[in-house]
Amino acid sequence: MSRRIFIAGNWKMNLLLVEALELVGKLKEQLRDVKAVDIAVCPSSVYVQQVAKSLSDSNIGVGAQNVYYREKGAFTGEVSTGMLIDVGVKYVILGHSERRHILNETNEDVNLKTQAVLASGLTPIVCVGELLAEREAGTTELVIKSQIESAFVNVAAADMKKCVIAYEPVWAIGTGKVATPDQAEEVHLFIRNLIEKKYGKDIAESVRIQYGGSVNDENAKEILAKPNVDGALVGGASLKVEPFVKIVKSAL
Ligand code: PGA
Repeated sequence: MSRRIFIAGNWKMNLLLVEALELVGKLKEQLRDVKAVDIAVCPSSVYVQQVAKSLSDSNIGVGAQNVYYREKGAFTGEVSTGMLIDVGVKYVILGHSERRHILNETNEDVNLKTQAVLASGLTPIVCVGELLAEREAGTTELVIKSQIESAFVNVAAADMKKCVIAYEPVWAIGTGKVATPDQAEEVHLFIRNLIEKKYGKDIAESVRIQYGGSVNDENAKEILAKPNVDGALVGGASLKVEPFVKIVKSAL
């Protein structure tokens, strides 16, 4: 089974509008000929509309960094899937470690959001990953198992197929300490086996699993070469044209 590589840039709370538009203007030009890789950028929610508009004639999709799971109502400060669809969004990052650890998002929140995103027709990018202390204590698999199992509660097989998972060891995010290709592959395979146990081989083989955590233009090629690594969720290195273009092209 061959899975299309998917490279997404997670801009987090960076770039003002003029910087964002300048960046996507150049990405669009320099990545125009890339056909074999799926590409997305995930701006702050206030800019998704303008970024999506600027990318509407390109091969680069737009993702949001979060969403609320209710359709509408009295939820001050939140954004719905319908609103994201309205402004041209295709993907939604869910359960990023910064949301889990800084904004106290729980496994249950991630599950509700995953269900809402799937019901809306958007594609979730569900993030999981262990803390350094958990890795050192030898509990990586336990943590990942519980995050994966709870994220996909009440998710039917047909929907599971559409999900993207991002394995992002928390100790590797923004630290410059990238997981070795073998460390990434080991957890990716573990995740794929968990999906297989619940949904069967065909679905497990079709789900894309991105790696995230200090991916840059120097280490991307080696990580992406691993059989169970199907792309990357890129933070810091997605904020500039050259490294992001190189990361995408290293997947070709
Ligand atoms: P990083 O972030 O590439 O800056 O480590 C990745 C992420 O948090 O998605």
